[in-house]
Amino acid sequence: MSPAGAPDRLGDGTRVVHAGDEPVVPGTPLRPSPVFAAPYHLGDLPPGAGGADSYARPDNPTLRVFERAVGELDGGDCLSFASGMAAISAAVLAVAGAGDRVVLPSDGYYATRVLAREELERLGMVVDLVPTLQIGDVAARGDLAGARLVLLETPSNPQLEVCDIAAVARATRAAGAVLVVDNTTATPIGQRPLALGADVTLGADTKALTGHSDVLLGHVSTAPTDAGRAVHARIAAWRKTTGNTPGPFEAWLAHRSMGTLDLRLARQATNAAALVEVLTGHPAVSAVRWPWSPADPSYPLASQQMLRPNGVVSAELADAGAVLRLVRTSRLFTAATSFGGIHTTVDRRAQWGGDAVPEGFVRFSCGIEDTADLVADLVPALDALG
Ligand SMILES: Cc1ncc(COP(=O)(O)O)c(C=O)c1O
Repeated sequence: MSPAGAPDRLGDGTRVVHAGDEPVVPGTPLRPSPVFAAPYHLGDLPPGAGGADSYARPDNPTLRVFERAVGELDGGDCLSFASGMAAISAAVLAVAGAGDRVVLPSDGYYATRVLAREELERLGMVVDLVPTLQIGDVAARGDLAGARLVLLETPSNPQLEVCDIAAVARATRAAGAVLVVDNTTATPIGQRPLALGADVTLGADTKALTGHSDVLLGHVSTAPTDAGRAVHARIAAWRKTTGNTPGPFEAWLAHRSMGTLDLRLARQATNAAALVEVLTGHPAVSAVRWPWSPADPSYPLASQQMLRPNGVVSAELADAGAVLRLVRTSRLFTAATSFGGIHTTVDRRAQWGGDAVPEGFVRFSCGIEDTADLVADLVPALDALG
C-alpha cells in the first residue's frame, strides 16, 4: 500500500519507512505503540464481532501492523513467528505430514537439517537433502514429482550458493508441490521469491530485516494466489493451535527497526564490496565468496534474480588459529554468530559442527561502520597472519 497520493512504484527507502502505515489521522502517533494485552474486553458481543480482538494468540493489533508491513515488502500475506526456525517449522509442519516427501537444502542453515533429522523424520516425513547448486537439475529432470514441499535457501547460509527460484517454481507447480524460499540472507527488499513463482517466502527477521542484534523473530509470507491463500489458512490455523505467536514488543521493535533496512543494506553492501577487494588475492585468504562480485560463480544468477546486494561474505583462512588471530588483532571484526546486524562480525562456522566447511571457513557479516575504518582495521590484521 502506498502513502496517500504517492506513486505506486516507490523506492526501497520509502517503502521500508512507510510499510504498514495506518491512514493518517491527526493526533494519532506516526507509529502505533505495542498493545500488550492477552485477553481483551468482550462486552456483550460474541467473540470477534465486528472484527474486535478477543485474545492475542490468534492475532492482535501489533502483529497485524507488523505483518502488513512485511507483507507489503514481500508482496504477499504475512504471519510472524517467534524466530526464524519457528517460521520454518510452521511452513513445513502446517503443510506436510506423515509419508510426505519434503525436499530441503543439504547446505543451508544447519538447524533446518536438525529439524529434518530430529522432528520431520520422527513424524514420518521422507526428507531428501539436495545441494542448492543441484536443485535446478533435480527440478529439470522431473525428480520433484511426488514431493509435497520443496524448500530453497538462496543465497544459502553460509556458502552463499544461489539457485534459480523461477525454474524450481515451475517444476514444483507441475509436481503439485508447495515451494518455500528461505529469503533470510537477501531480505524482502533484496529478493522477491513470490514474484518469481514461490508459494511461500520466509525469513529469520533476527538478521538483517531487524538488523540491531536485539530481537529474535521470523515470518512467513504467502503468495496472493489460490495455492498461497490455502497455505496461509493452514499456517494461520497451525500458529493459533500450537501457540507459536511472537510477543507484541518484538513485533513492534522489528517494525521500528525495519524503517532503516534500505540504509543499512546499502552501507553493508558497500562495506562488503570493500572487504571482498581486500580479501581477494590476499596471501592469507584462499577463497572468497560474495554473489555480487562479478568473479563469483553465483554472480550471473544472483544479479539476474536478486534486486540488490547485502553484506554477507564468506572466505577461507588457513585454519581455526588464523581466524582466532584475525579477531584478536582487529578492533572492529567481532566474533559473533548471526549476521545482518549493524556491527561487523566474523563467524568461524566449523566451530558449530553443523556445516561441511573447512576449519578456517568464516562468514563475515559487514555492519554499517565507516568503510575506510573497516579496511584500515582488516588489512594489518590479515597481513599479520603472514
Ligand atoms: C538462513 C537462515 N534461516 C533461518 C535461520 C533461523 O533463524 P532464528 O535463529 O531466528 O531461528 C537462520 C539463522 O541463522 C538462517 O541463517
